[in-house]
Amino acid sequence: MRLDFFTLFPAWFDWFVGQRHVQNVVRDGTRIEFFNYRESTPLSAGQVDDAPYGGGAGMVLRVDVVDAALQAAYADRARPRVVVLAPTGRQFDESLAVELAAEPHLTLLCGRYEGFDERIVDHLADDAISIGRYVLSGGEPAAMVVADAVLRKLPGALGHPDGAAEESFSAALDGAPEYPHYTRPPNYRGWKVPDVLLSGDHERVREWRIERSRRRAASSR
Ligand SMILES: C[S@@+](CC[C@H](N)C(=O)[O-])C[C@H]1O[C@@H](n2cnc3c(N)ncnc32)[C@H](O)[C@@H]1O
Repeated sequence: MRLDFFTLFPAWFDWFVGQRHVQNVVRDGTRIEFFNYRESTPLSAGQVDDAPYGGGAGMVLRVDVVDAALQAAYADRARPRVVVLAPTGRQFDESLAVELAAEPHLTLLCGRYEGFDERIVDHLADDAISIGRYVLSGGEPAAMVVADAVLRKLPGALGHPDGAAEESFSAALDGAPEYPHYTRPPNYRGWKVPDVLLSGDHERVREWRIERSRRRAASSR
């Protein structure tokens, strides 16, 4: 896979790219690139934004600036799937993470200030994705949330090959939340681990886990 981030603040990602699962997929062939809108802007003095038509507070990222950044990165080559990070976008979830992880080339556009000129969403991007109904200062943490959920689905990302197979909201659990986990000690301050998990009976453990997962799904509806 190739994953590109477009941002005004690439330093936000310095910590992210050093994380173990990210390094694992890079070692296995995933390519991660960063593009700064300011480095390809056609405007003078590194300008990337402008005041909103109709008035109001804040500045809006310009469509010509984002188009120039995409052109500079891809020219006439095949365009990747381009995703805008926006609070107003489609809600990000596990099934969308699985879908994006299957893309050979994914581009995440991080906004700032008041956000993107809507023509970027309408004409330059394939999707707008929100990570939740709240507003962050910039798209960088949202892009890292999306990238983290996507990259950990790639083979070799996690220490254990089955690590991401049976997790909350996965197909293996019919989209339900995961069952609870416990580890040693078996009794701490009178808080006991369920007996079934100490029984060694794998079939009963399996049934208990599925039942708990379904119970969580029902209580979160
Ligand atoms: C301050 S926000 C803009 C908020 C916008 N004026 C609004 O009210 O919807 C700046 C940038 O942060 C990113 N952002 C903020 N909250 C987000 C969220 N919940 N999901 C995805 N991206 C978000 C987007 O890239 C956005 O362009």
